[in-house]
Amino acid sequence: MVLFKDMLHSDQTIFKNQDALDTEFIPKILPYREKQQRYIALCIAPLLQDRTGKNLLICGTPGIGKTATIKYIFKDLENETDDVIPIYINCWQKNTTFKIIVAICEELGYKFTQNKRTEELFTIIKNMLNKKSVVFAFDEIDKIEDFDFVYTVLEEIYKKTILLITNYKEWLSKLDERIRSRLGADIIEFQAYDLKETRDILKQRINYAFYPSVFESDALDVISKKTFETKDIRTGLHLMKEAGIAAENESCKKIEIEHANKALQKIDDFSIKKSADLESQTRLLLEIIKENPAKKSGELFEIYQQKGGSDSYRSFHRKLKSLETSRFITIKRIEGGKEGKTSIIEYNSSSKKLTEF
Ligand SMILES: Nc1ncnc2c1ncn2[C@@H]1O[C@H](COP(=O)(O)OP(=O)(O)O)[C@@H](O)[C@H]1O
Ligand SMILES: [Mg+2]
Repeated sequence: MVLFKDMLHSDQTIFKNQDALDTEFIPKILPYREKQQRYIALCIAPLLQDRTGKNLLICGTPGIGKTATIKYIFKDLENETDDVIPIYINCWQKNTTFKIIVAICEELGYKFTQNKRTEELFTIIKNMLNKKSVVFAFDEIDKIEDFDFVYTVLEEIYKKTILLITNYKEWLSKLDERIRSRLGADIIEFQAYDLKETRDILKQRINYAFYPSVFESDALDVISKKTFETKDIRTGLHLMKEAGIAAENESCKKIEIEHANKALQKIDDFSIKKSADLESQTRLLLEIIKENPAKKSGELFEIYQQKGGSDSYRSFHRKLKSLETSRFITIKRIEGGKEGKTSIIEYNSSSKKLTEF
């Protein structure tokens, strides 16, 4: 029957691989970041010749491929040699010297970290790392509470490159002169993509995420334009996913401009821009809170775990508090009742955030 020809059946989907629209997904090639990749690789290159590397400060607004570039280089390095150890740390999650040292222990496969002091643990990793060369990437370095680990690594790890990455250029200029001169680092700034680059990057992602020819070119145009305006590739990933869902909801086999427009209507710039800046576990948590209004924190923790959340209850709780501080959510604390104290968590709609900010 002609009427139903272009409709999806219940067992059909237009998504080939929806995971390819996640921020954490790293494509096989990263277009438009070749120059930066080469520059960073040159800083690491001396390590391959058993010499020490060059340190680097990297800045640029959110969602323009800084983390992706580092992870891409690390993957390449791992394929090339066993003599240089890449260590990637996100300082939003690991924001103290102690947490960073424990994370490095975990990366190196050293499990007996309990009841040991920072210095003890550092001696252990120092002995392991100084047998080889190391590249450290400390991402979102502006979230760090103390810099002891930088000094320690500078002094006690012999052959290394240290990469410090931040979304905030101003933060770099405020960085303590002592650290800066000790690092002797170059600074590179990533620039946002232009409209064509943005479109090409999103197009590449479409090929990973959707079946061939389902995403219409003018739908991509609309999404590319909006993404270019927000200067954040994550906006595009989010919109492509939403547009795909909108098409599927209508049992449509193609993603057309109207689905892209529907996706656009749904987003509010503000929440996307702000939430793009959150680390992935926090983002997962925020999504869950949005989808499950007025839940108690214990209930949310259960949902969070079911959805693959990897934090302990304590870190989960800490994330809730930080979301409350930045006013993404409201926590209503209720005294009494048969369960004693309980907290009800509510997502803040954009209007509330806008007026309160
Ligand atoms: N040049 C690029 N090619 C392909 N994907 C990219 C490129 N730049 C950014 N992305 C994608 O955009 C998203 C955001 O990039 P990310 O590296 O996390 O940004 P940043 O660390 O600068 O905030 C990721 O999903 C990443 O894969
Ligand atoms: Mg990043």
